[in-house]
Amino acid sequence: MNQFVENKTQSTYQFWHALSHPNEWRTQQPLRIVKGDGLYVWDDKGHKMLDGFAGLWCVNVGHNRTEVKDAIKKQMDEISYYQLFAGVSHPLAEQLSNKLIAMTAQEDMANVVYGSGGSDAVETAIKIARQYWVLQGQPQRTRIISLKNAYHGVNIGGTSLNGMPVFKMNYGPLLEQCIQIESPWLYRNPWNCEDPDQLAQLVIDELERTIQYHGADSIAAFIAEPIQGAGGIIVPPDAFWPSLRKLCDKYDILLIADEVITGFGRSGSMFGSRGWGVKPDMMTLAKGLSSGYVPLSATIFNHRIAKAFYDNNDHKGLFMHGYTYGGHPLGCAAALAVLDIVEKENLPENAAQMGRYLLTELQKIKEQYALIGEVRGKGLMLALDLVKDQKTREPIDADSDIASRLTEACRDAGAVIRPIGTKLCLAPPLTIDQAGCDVLINALKSAFKQVTA
Ligand SMILES: Cc1ncc(COP(=O)(O)O)c(C=O)c1O
Repeated sequence: MNQFVENKTQSTYQFWHALSHPNEWRTQQPLRIVKGDGLYVWDDKGHKMLDGFAGLWCVNVGHNRTEVKDAIKKQMDEISYYQLFAGVSHPLAEQLSNKLIAMTAQEDMANVVYGSGGSDAVETAIKIARQYWVLQGQPQRTRIISLKNAYHGVNIGGTSLNGMPVFKMNYGPLLEQCIQIESPWLYRNPWNCEDPDQLAQLVIDELERTIQYHGADSIAAFIAEPIQGAGGIIVPPDAFWPSLRKLCDKYDILLIADEVITGFGRSGSMFGSRGWGVKPDMMTLAKGLSSGYVPLSATIFNHRIAKAFYDNNDHKGLFMHGYTYGGHPLGCAAALAVLDIVEKENLPENAAQMGRYLLTELQKIKEQYALIGEVRGKGLMLALDLVKDQKTREPIDADSDIASRLTEACRDAGAVIRPIGTKLCLAPPLTIDQAGCDVLINALKSAFKQVTA
């Protein structure tokens, strides 16, 4: 019996990779990263590569930063872990929450709830939004609207809000009453609309019809990423977020910005929503918060939401939520050191500048290859959209191996990039300079030359 089970399930190692079929990795060798320093990582064969995806869009300050390691070590020498449940605290969680609220003063943020990752942060936001409406005497406001192509993590709440069917198909029944509307994607939308202002309005109109159809008094919140990341790096038209804020205000609906990727500079401004000039009611933060050195996330919300809790004195205001590792002292130590670097080195501005440079250089590659339908991005979130035909914009076949061959050729040429479906995505550390961008561009050039030969 044991023999049978072993043969049936054996692979080179026992953990399963996220977002893939377990059979896929039973025989193939994964990329094994053993070392990182600054912009670079090394695999187990000693091959050095520019980390063009900052781990998983998170190592914003680069690898192996002494300041961050020293801060973690210092905290470890004092105490490695303590909790934040009722009436217990530790100094770094207090310092970090003061820091986060000071950094988001212009968004009128009031309070912080910690978690360990982006999926925690989203789950926390869903629960706070629902409880807010309980406190407002409108407990029937439970629906949350999101966008197609959205990615809000993998817990059941986030899975229910995700806008890509593949994330949901095997996990139902999901959270009831979640609705996805069309995403404001200029390159591919059902209206074939190429005018940014018109497209923003079309999506806003669809949202308004959706609100009216279900009734505003059934809707708790709207959630979106300021730039859709895992959906393929979809930058909405400039008018979209400001119009979204107006519409949410019109129907008294909470606006949640999922800033798990865009928070702390990646999109070229400190927060993605700030880049659109918009103040959300809630923001979910993770990844860049601690630059991935230690897992940490935060859900922050404004005074409107905080007041509803503070004004209540019965069980409706009981906040029955929290994670053992939320606000982990080592995560807070890392985050305080990371945010210091983000501010001192003005990384949002560097992301904006280097993003513009990369976009120009990627455009030049696109001109040479019919395989690239579009290059797009904002700040250091960039994508090359691979197509069968530039005119029809039809993507390459989903089961084609072109994206993975390009990714591998790119690694061989000295840069790690990430294929997401039929797109190649770039999200290097925000500390990247022009020389680092050139390493990335040259690796891509070499990969396209080799794979399309
Ligand atoms: C916008 C967004 N929200 C939530 C998440 C989930 O974060 P985590 O993987 O840390 O749970 C991600 C992860 O990529 C994300 O991009």
